[in-house]
Amino acid sequence: MRAVSDYNDPSVAVLGFGYVGSCIAATLADRGFDVVGVDANPELVEEFERGHCRFQEAGLAEAVARAKATGKLRITTDTSELGAVDVVLITVGTPVLDDGSLADAQLRGACVEVSKHLRKGQLVVLKSTVPPGTTRGVALPLLERSGLTGGADFSLAFTPERLAEGTAMKEVQTLPIVAGGLDDESTQAVTRFWSRTLGVEVIPLDSMEAAEVVKLANNWWIDLNIALANELAKFCALYGVDVLDVVRAANTISKGNGKVNILLPSVGVGGSCLTKDPWMVWSAARRQGVDIRTAAAGRDVNAAMPEYTAQLAINTLAGLGKDPSRATVAVLGLAFKNNTGDLRATPTLGVVEALRETGAEVRIHDPLVDPGLAEAMFGFPLTEDLDDAVRDADCIAVLALHRDFEDIDFAALPVSESCLVLDGRAYYAKDKIQALKDLGYVYRGIGRGTEPAPPALGHGTPGQEEMAA
Ligand SMILES: NC(=O)c1ccc[n+]([C@@H]2O[C@H](COP(=O)([O-])OP(=O)(O)OC[C@H]3O[C@@H](n4cnc5c(N)ncnc54)[C@H](O)[C@@H]3O)[C@@H](O)[C@H]2O)c1
Repeated sequence: MRAVSDYNDPSVAVLGFGYVGSCIAATLADRGFDVVGVDANPELVEEFERGHCRFQEAGLAEAVARAKATGKLRITTDTSELGAVDVVLITVGTPVLDDGSLADAQLRGACVEVSKHLRKGQLVVLKSTVPPGTTRGVALPLLERSGLTGGADFSLAFTPERLAEGTAMKEVQTLPIVAGGLDDESTQAVTRFWSRTLGVEVIPLDSMEAAEVVKLANNWWIDLNIALANELAKFCALYGVDVLDVVRAANTISKGNGKVNILLPSVGVGGSCLTKDPWMVWSAARRQGVDIRTAAAGRDVNAAMPEYTAQLAINTLAGLGKDPSRATVAVLGLAFKNNTGDLRATPTLGVVEALRETGAEVRIHDPLVDPGLAEAMFGFPLTEDLDDAVRDADCIAVLALHRDFEDIDFAALPVSESCLVLDGRAYYAKDKIQALKDLGYVYRGIGRGTEPAPPALGHGTPGQEEMAA
């Protein structure tokens, strides 16, 4: 007899206290539910214990501190806690292997741990992103090692996490939750759980597989849409057109249930999700003999943006009569997006590497990233002071515009003459660009209309080489 639907005040274990797990656990505890965070990494647990939060997410550290102070949130490595709660949420990492298939060690480990402590009546919810069929094909059999039967003895559901870093704490409490259960009772149980705890809209689907596909569809769309924006930026650059004007205007017509919504171009796509989830789609389909081309195309376009960005800097410096191999470049913002300290799969690494390959001296500055992690990843230390980072620089590359950078006084920076401001993700407005020019800076942004025009192609007629071919 399953009884989770009767819990008025469910206690929760969050297994995998990483970026996602900590945001969810802190939110639930902040809303008054008893939550235990369980993680296999003792260092992470010890950090949280002594009040340090390694994830730079607005509001997270404060929410964790509040929830710890009220006793609603505990954090431990002790997996026996999993048997003491009503609901177990699994939020472990789900990276992919080189061929795009799921590296399932964390997920398997988590399910085995849950199975050791599983009790009748519990609800197990997988939130990590997985290829379709994983909750049924991987998680369920491992959970049933407990001797209990999914559907008969315990409920099982997949409800993907769809938050975005930088706005995670808000999104956890507002985004609709998609839910697919092993059986109707599981779907009902998980729907009640999320409605009761977060009070958000829950969208029940027919199966766990449908919910698994929804998450992949979201990230497939986002990555592909950004790829469109990036190629649109390259296209705009050919005509001296500002891509931001084009996107703003193009997005004014209605289509389907909403409006055309082209996202923004940038130095590239990073983070732990968009860089892998489209490959999960591609790989899962390929194993069944279906070639999904848009997922791979989006990835290829976005993965090429760091090189494009570096080349933009190199070409502009050369155009200014500055030898790129002797140039000094200050990179401001290393994280994969604005206002996060997350360095996972950051596109800024590709820019720095490409610039250093030309011989340029590159300095890196980012107040949000972990200095040790940054040094390990980039191979040299951060320059902590902004003035030291930009001193005599020929180029300031703003690759993540954190709040700390919004008020930089460019007039006071000790840069070299005709310093290039390379806009990788700042989206400076036109009056700001004009102000920079007035101060003697040269501005270049991805698709911002000031890049050199390409060689003429002869108005759509084939070139001589094409005709000869
Ligand atoms: N980071 C995001 O913005 C984001 C957004 C939406 C969805 N997701 C998805 O959510 C999942 C988690 O992502 P994340 O960024 O939080 O990952 P993460 O790497 O930050 O956290 C995973 C945590 O799980 C722990 N862990 C691994 N195996 C374990 C085990 N067997 N038992 C206990 N703990 C274990 C790790 O120590 C780590 O702390 C992934 O599937 C990811 O794709 C992430």
